[in-house]
Amino acid sequence: MHICYVVAMRAEARPFVEAYGLSKVDGFFVPLPCILYDGMAGDCRLSVVLNGEQHGTDLVGCEAASVATMAAIERLHPDMVVNSGTCGAFKAQGASIAEVFVGNGAMFHDRRVPGDDGFATQSLGNYAVWDGSRALAERLGLKMGKVTTGSSLDMQPCDLAVIQQHGGQLKDMEGAAVAFVCSLFHTPLLLVKSVTDLCDDGAATFEEFTKNLSAASQSLNEANQRIINRLSAL
Ligand code: ADE
Repeated sequence: MHICYVVAMRAEARPFVEAYGLSKVDGFFVPLPCILYDGMAGDCRLSVVLNGEQHGTDLVGCEAASVATMAAIERLHPDMVVNSGTCGAFKAQGASIAEVFVGNGAMFHDRRVPGDDGFATQSLGNYAVWDGSRALAERLGLKMGKVTTGSSLDMQPCDLAVIQQHGGQLKDMEGAAVAFVCSLFHTPLLLVKSVTDLCDDGAATFEEFTKNLSAASQSLNEANQRIINRLSAL
């Protein structure tokens, strides 16, 4: 079994890169900005692909996530991709800071394309996740939620309208892009998301995100270790 994590931020990946003693493979994706960490988790090969950096910051968002996922699948041929990261969620739905969710689907919430139903369907995405996701979440006692992805950290009223209309629970900037690429390659995808901010608690999103990034990354690490244990037994 070869599991490949696709992760946007160094802070999100660092705890479990360290926990498994993964080694950085310099230059693996040149000329792309993605960075590979590689190693073993028991009998399982474990790769972590980071989107990379630009302007001294982690590359977040759909474009970088698509590039990283495509490069990871083409170069590493993993059995499964796991998109692990942080997200916003909703207090009104009972979510709390540093709570970890498994995604039960992924779609885009900020693609407003007029035209026929085909364009609307394509723009929203609505991608499936690995069909073992529910059993895994139940086994580990993790809640599930629908991941909705956009290119901004803030949430405009028109984004919220789409999220509510489609039963979205977790707001991120990569999940649906990773899901899109996985769907093209028929690579199973697991989404694991830890909450840094509550979109409906009135707090300033970036400040709340920054304050909780470390705690959310720690709970993400704990959940990922349990997930890897479980997946490597399959
Ligand atoms: N990542 C963490 N929090 C987020 C939010 N509120 N929106 C998009 N991506 C996020």
